[in-house]
Amino acid sequence: MTDITPLLAAEGVGFGYGRSRPVLADVSLAVGPGASLGLVGESGAGKTTLLRLLLGLSLPTAGEVRFDGDRLDVRDRRSMRRFRRAVQPVYQDPFSSLDPRMTVGRSIAEPLRSLQIEGDHRARVAELLAAVGLAPDAADRYPDAFSGGQRQRIAIARALAPRPRLLLADEPVSALDTSVRMTVIELLQRLAREQGIGFLLVSHDLTIVSALCERMAVLEAGRIVEEGATRSVLTAPAHPYTRRLLASVPRLPAV
Ligand SMILES: Nc1ncnc2c1ncn2[C@@H]1O[C@H](COP(=O)(O)OP(=O)(O)O)[C@@H](O)[C@H]1O
Ligand SMILES: [Mg+2]
Repeated sequence: MTDITPLLAAEGVGFGYGRSRPVLADVSLAVGPGASLGLVGESGAGKTTLLRLLLGLSLPTAGEVRFDGDRLDVRDRRSMRRFRRAVQPVYQDPFSSLDPRMTVGRSIAEPLRSLQIEGDHRARVAELLAAVGLAPDAADRYPDAFSGGQRQRIAIARALAPRPRLLLADEPVSALDTSVRMTVIELLQRLAREQGIGFLLVSHDLTIVSALCERMAVLEAGRIVEEGATRSVLTAPAHPYTRRLLASVPRLPAV
């Protein structure tokens, strides 16, 4: 990944909330086109904060976020529109990430409207519902008619609407029942493969990271302590923190 421009990168990024001690310090990571990177670390390590910076929702206090080789400039509306078409979020909680007053079809089409993407939005919504395994009539219903797993499929359909090149997913299945987690993961895996979409996947579940991500980075208290091919990190962790994290997993994931 050193010889190609990463699609999205954090370079020496630091961040703190107000005057409290920094939450992120000198964080660098990159995800190339079509690549998949898992980000793991204990609760409070700064994973969600890092995703917010990578999405341009918060500004780093040190370092920078780069998109396609250029510094992400949140004041540049045209380049932010290009950025939002290319990089889409999937959040942890599909109950709060969908507006209960909007039909599912309207929610899925929302990025098409806000990013001024032309075309037949209804047809695109139908295509997206099919891609995530939901019936066409879902478009006219409201989120409360759907289960957690179905809502996360809807959120994934919405993220896919502008044909992004990269998804940033923050614990996308941890709010779901264990029984549906794998089906949502398999959906993400299939879509990534079929559409060549890259991923940055935050998860505390190493089984999921090992199933989905070629590479992984380990965040401890706001610092990246280890980064590498998922297989080698999981089989031969170099950092004591990674070893502790692995030891806290009941059963080592098959890699
Ligand atoms: N809005 C906020 N205001 C102040 N502190 C916050 C805020 N959000 C998160 N934090 C703190 O920042 C640290 C990292 O949080 P977070 O990025 O949510 O970690 P993770 O996603 O890895 O669990 C934690 O100590 C958390 O308490
Ligand atoms: Mg989090």
